[in-house]
Amino acid sequence: MGHTSIHYLFFNKITSMVQFCKLVIFISSALSSYGRLNPNKFPDDFLFGIASASYQIEGAWNLSGKGENIWDRYTHTHPELILNRTNGDIACNSYHRYEEDVALIKKLGVQFYRFSLSWTRILPIGFSSKINPDGIRYYNNLINLLMKNDIIPIITIFHWDTPQHLEELGGFTNALMANWFEDYARVVFENFGDRVKVWITFNEPKEICLKGYGGDEKAPGYNLSGTADYICAHNLMKAHARAYHLYDKQFRSKQNGQISIVMDTFWMEPATNLTWDKKAAERRLAFIFGWYAHPVYSSNGDYPDVMKKYVARRSKREGFKRSRLPNFTKEEVNYIKGTYDFLGLNHYSTVLTKNVLFEPIFGKPSVEKDSMTVTEYDPSWPNSKASWLKVVPWGFTKLLVWLKNAYGNVPIYITENGFADDGEIDDKDRINYHKLYLSALLDAMHKYKVNVKAYTIWSFMDDFEWRDGYMTRFGLYHVDFNDPGRNRTPKASAEYYRKVIAARKIDGID
Ligand code: BGC
Repeated sequence: MGHTSIHYLFFNKITSMVQFCKLVIFISSALSSYGRLNPNKFPDDFLFGIASASYQIEGAWNLSGKGENIWDRYTHTHPELILNRTNGDIACNSYHRYEEDVALIKKLGVQFYRFSLSWTRILPIGFSSKINPDGIRYYNNLINLLMKNDIIPIITIFHWDTPQHLEELGGFTNALMANWFEDYARVVFENFGDRVKVWITFNEPKEICLKGYGGDEKAPGYNLSGTADYICAHNLMKAHARAYHLYDKQFRSKQNGQISIVMDTFWMEPATNLTWDKKAAERRLAFIFGWYAHPVYSSNGDYPDVMKKYVARRSKREGFKRSRLPNFTKEEVNYIKGTYDFLGLNHYSTVLTKNVLFEPIFGKPSVEKDSMTVTEYDPSWPNSKASWLKVVPWGFTKLLVWLKNAYGNVPIYITENGFADDGEIDDKDRINYHKLYLSALLDAMHKYKVNVKAYTIWSFMDDFEWRDGYMTRFGLYHVDFNDPGRNRTPKASAEYYRKVIAARKIDGID
């Protein structure tokens, strides 16, 4: 008995020592990932900016010749789908207040402003047969004012607001979209390319296709996953390549700019150390990000092999005569491959990824079922106002390192990174988020030599946050949507970002 109790005490002591050591390790790793910020400086040529998108801020939805787009139609015909039945009819009224907006942007000390063009403000029915002079005038005024204030305009040609007329012809499910987009891009290069030197063809194909065609969380809301989303992406990637080649062949020599595409992804962390979960995380990255990135950035081009294999196998078992994932011809693969000057990345958060062991039951196809993966969150990760956005800065570093290994040393522009809250003026949680994510970015650049050239905070000001209406806020400036003047007030994070940009570091900046 005495013997046993000596053993008991001994092992108990060992166990508590182990627990103590674990606690020390936990605290120090928490400190190194959250407490100790990366002390390095951002290089002199590193650029800081902020971003917005036309439908989310402009308003003036039917003024001065603007035509209807799919978000006008979606919010007007299905107000119940938007929180508090709001819409972007007025939004931040940036169409009328752009002069004040440029002054607010200037105060931040950013080097660039990334904003998007409203296709139907320029081409009211989507076709280049009719150009709206007021639309051209509006963007000319904005670009000129930015340049006068030494702010580089970075333009997203398409940020989700497809002309309604083109949507009625099938939108991105119509292969002719590549023609229509190329025609629109030509108008844009001809009118603004003398001053605009950085172009982004599309913002986030995943959201456009997976959510807007595969699901109904975004306009136009087809809700046909496993078919419409694959077709959308197929046509969208061709449209991107058409605009890239047009610029490359006919405008680059005169205008000397850069053109690429912006893609978004979470970091996919394996849920366990098991090989199948590690493979599942890689596979999910291939399905969610490689789907668009591989055709452009990989040395072979085309969709990732694992994706082609999984979709083809499941399509066959479902009785389809051919894979639901369309094929690129050899010529198309070569045409799309390499259509970039940088890699535009929107990154907000991380998910845990798990393998799905047994084939999901047949029925309605879906991209997720095709991927044989599911995701979840670690309950210990800090939350934001948006359920999908957890604060996981180390995921940012891992994603950047993964990108370098997957696609080489391509220059990366972080084109969005941001935090969601209720709109507090003293937004400490937003400041904390950016502090940690900027530190994670410096880790990637200094420890792992990832070639990151620019960083952008989403968003310049609170705006119309799609299905969440005006309830979820991302802005550095608060906007009072109850005030007819849409009064803007700087939040604490605006001052924080200004100081970071001035010091070119985060260590010691509060
Ligand atoms: C989009 C923005 C959006 C933000 C926050 C990004 O995916 O580009 O339009 O407001 O996420 O949800």
